Amino acid sequence: MGIKVLIIGGGGREHALAWKVAASPQVDRIYCAPGNAGITEFAECVSIDPSHTGALQDFAVRNKIDLTIVGPELPLTLGIVDAFEHAGLRIFGPAKNAALLEASKIFAKEIMRDCGIPTADFATFSDVERARNYVKQIHAPVVVKADGLASGKGVFPSLTADEALEAIERIMIKKEFGSSGAALVVEDFLRGEEASFICFTDGRTVSPMPSSQDHKRVFDGDRGPNTGGMGAYSPAPVVTPEIHERVMEKVMRPMVAALKARGITYKGALYAGLMIEQGEPRVLEFNVRFGDPETQPLMLRLNTDIIDILNAVIDERLSEICVDWDPRPSVCIVMAADGYPGKYEKGRPISGLKEAAAVPDTVIFHAGTSLRNGQVVTDGGRVLGVTSRGCTITDAIQNAYTAADKIHWEGVHYRHDIAHRAINR
Ligand SMILES: Nc1ncnc2c1ncn2[C@@H]1O[C@H](COP(=O)(O)OP(=O)(O)O)[C@@H](O)[C@H]1O
Ligand SMILES: [Mg+2]
Repeated sequence: MGIKVLIIGGGGREHALAWKVAASPQVDRIYCAPGNAGITEFAECVSIDPSHTGALQDFAVRNKIDLTIVGPELPLTLGIVDAFEHAGLRIFGPAKNAALLEASKIFAKEIMRDCGIPTADFATFSDVERARNYVKQIHAPVVVKADGLASGKGVFPSLTADEALEAIERIMIKKEFGSSGAALVVEDFLRGEEASFICFTDGRTVSPMPSSQDHKRVFDGDRGPNTGGMGAYSPAPVVTPEIHERVMEKVMRPMVAALKARGITYKGALYAGLMIEQGEPRVLEFNVRFGDPETQPLMLRLNTDIIDILNAVIDERLSEICVDWDPRPSVCIVMAADGYPGKYEKGRPISGLKEAAAVPDTVIFHAGTSLRNGQVVTDGGRVLGVTSRGCTITDAIQNAYTAADKIHWEGVHYRHDIAHRAINR
């Protein structure tokens, strides 16, 4: 008899995790809350919202779930791991006090400053007058960030003092992000190229995943508004072996150790968003979970049974595990609904999924999809993550676009330059 696994979330990241979990011979049944149309292929989807941690716990108890995996940050910051552990349930993810690393940018920045982790110089404010006076005096461009969770909308790169004042107004006076804007960070604007660096850690051992890079802007050439991510690829050549070592030595291990020194054992996936300029990586932020869409190309490259890794993290014996990654690069193209990241329609029938999935070395991960009378329809802004591997990054890109071009619905759009930075190098 294998184990029963519950995956919390319903995006492309959770589909990729479910796909990898389903590949484990140790697994008997998979549930996903709430899941999506693609996940139904190997999991039973249950309509519980990821923020309803009590309902999730009841479900896990009733169905004798052996292992729960948390996708999004919200349940982590609400303390789902603490609650499950208290109830004797096994769960993968950081406890509430560790999840503060993402839930409070000020908490993260202060630890970084205390232990010398490279990051932009900053000041923090909970008083609006002080924040205003501060930005009026600065000359260099700054970035203003709401302290708490804001679904990626609470960060304002401000080139002038006036723009910074406007950002402070929106965060603290108009309270556009509610209590997440009770305090804010003003930090130096950094230039360079971004990359994502994600590790498994059990609070002692840090096991890095390969590097990856996300594409946040909606249009080709990094134009248009920010999104949840329009595509990703792995590895990101901007993270050279030297930079990789530097990030492990200067960022990842010090952060895990700093938390430990504060009595916090970080167990889960730890994500550093980096800005790399002339070989110098600096941390933009920490996330306390797998990235979306970075997880899609990463899961395609993971050879080791994911259940072994997650169990080792939970039991704090990650040092015993050798995590093996496929050297072949992989690429994920996010296919989005018309209008995304603004307003968009739902319920558009999607065609060509079977043909696309037949492209070699390709998996179609679903994000915002649902089933209507057996037909897969759009049900979100980011709809699919077409993910392919190749012997070279060029092959991977070609496979992914060959597959994406076979898929259609009314208003579908996607970027045509995913992974261009990897080729240009
Ligand atoms: N100090 C900075 N300098 C330049 N760009 C930044 C800086 N901080 C954030 N950004 C940009 O804003 C994006 C979002 O910021 P981040 O700190 O990752 O917050 P979140 O993901 O919570 O919105 C980053 O991916 C990066 O493009
Ligand atoms: Mg970010």
